[in-house]
Amino acid sequence: MNILAIETSCDETSASVISNGLDVKSLVISSQIPIHAKFFGVVPELASRAHIENINPVIAKTLSDAKISFNDFTKKIDAIAFTVGPGLAGALLVGSVVAKSLASVYRKPLIPVNHLEGHIYSTFIENKSLKPPFLALIISGGHTELIIVEDFGRYKILGGTRDDAVGEAFDKAAKMLGLSYPGGPIIDEKSSRGNPSAIKFTRPYLKGSWDFSFSGIKTSLLNYLKANPIKSGQHLNDICASFRMAIAETLNFKAFEAAKEFNLKKVVLGGGASSNSLIRYMFLENGKKNKIKVFIPSPIYCTDNAAMIGSCAYLKQKKCGLSYSSFQLKSNPSLLLSNW
Ligand code: KG4
Ligand code: ZN
Repeated sequence: MNILAIETSCDETSASVISNGLDVKSLVISSQIPIHAKFFGVVPELASRAHIENINPVIAKTLSDAKISFNDFTKKIDAIAFTVGPGLAGALLVGSVVAKSLASVYRKPLIPVNHLEGHIYSTFIENKSLKPPFLALIISGGHTELIIVEDFGRYKILGGTRDDAVGEAFDKAAKMLGLSYPGGPIIDEKSSRGNPSAIKFTRPYLKGSWDFSFSGIKTSLLNYLKANPIKSGQHLNDICASFRMAIAETLNFKAFEAAKEFNLKKVVLGGGASSNSLIRYMFLENGKKNKIKVFIPSPIYCTDNAAMIGSCAYLKQKKCGLSYSSFQLKSNPSLLLSNW
């Protein structure tokens, strides 16, 4: 089965062909970072316009990379998957309109995919035999969610962020530090040359709850910077490393506490911030120490991409078949995780 997957929930226009299960035949990602960088965040109207400009070339390239011409579309593509929510309203509409148009022209079934589920199932692209139950920690620019995946499409949400998402905290910290957008990769890179014990930023463990809160770390960074203006490149590296450590330790603490509490032997990370090198290292090390297997997608599958939408769509149609009501096909910017 070949699925053409489309992702336009935020600031990446992406399309992918996923074949025979979870083999990525092609993946094209057109990033809008240069458009949004000067605003230190995604501007929804500009994102929608860029998606409209990019979507057709991105789909044409992913089909051509998968060696499928538009003449072969009917024969070679079996279903079309698209991100139905959550995300930016206008951005989601672009992907959904294009997916629906292709589906009606070529008479193909549509598979709506929740963006968060895309991040959960991105891991399956590289770990095809992985099976639930597992604990999933999704850390992106818009979400921080700790979820027990009891089975394919069956979830128990343990907690989420009460304020900033992990990626958002990195992005806001970068702005305070005079760095550009997106802040996560830049702070990650500077941290590698810094001392993570130089400054002791707060660790918001919120004991007794599975929720997260990252606004406290952000405020402690702001207070530190007021009292200690950046005096050198090394000082900046030390601040970045200390900030990154505070976030990585908080995530590790909560995720492994939850895995132990619910006796889960597998932990899956997903979302853009799971490409952070320290977060990856600490999760893998803690996994070894606690005899818990940790799965983290390659960085290309951590940040937004259509292959993860195709991966989820494949698993979803395997369990639910290929018919969806028109209600499910309406894009929904605040779509919640729900069971299949
Ligand atoms: O999953 P994603 O591409 O988009 C959303 O669904 O939000 O995540 C984007 C977020 C941004 O906030 C970005 O700063 C963060 O992921 N990010 C990182 C790293 N790479 C991307 N955060 C920390 N360290 C990184 N290496
Ligand atoms: Zn995402």
